Amino acid sequence: MAKLNIVKYGDEVLRKKCREVEEITPRILTLLDDMVETMRAADGCGLAAPQVGILRRIAVVELDDKVYELINPHIIAFSGEQHEVEGCLSIPGEQVTTKRPMYVTVRAFNRNGEVVDYTGEGLLARAFCHELDHLDGKLMIDRAVPVKKKK
Ligand code: NI
Repeated sequence: MAKLNIVKYGDEVLRKKCREVEEITPRILTLLDDMVETMRAADGCGLAAPQVGILRRIAVVELDDKVYELINPHIIAFSGEQHEVEGCLSIPGEQVTTKRPMYVTVRAFNRNGEVVDYTGEGLLARAFCHELDHLDGKLMIDRAVPVKKKK
């Protein structure tokens, strides 16, 4: 496994739309392993492939000792709403309040090529949305909830 470089805000790769994975090759499996290692080394709870310069629809999320490896993920259901503060490994030091669904179900392929559905609530739902956004070139700052001005 290898720790990869995390692309920082300002790099145009973060604004590109990623391509679907057509075949789960050994190279894709290595990328998944490296992304998990990179996410852990950076003390993050999620990482998307464009953040390591790869324009493929792949993301990893880790929460409560469970690792979610998502290949070609998409949201198949969502409900509720939450306004919470989130951060991004590509925008170090920044925290923004975003509006996200409270519950999200993601359908993806796992590393074995099996279709898997994961339902997340709260932070996990937020992490899924945040990482899937990355695959379409969207960042948390695009989702920021306007701060109310004190009168
Ligand atoms: Ni991020």
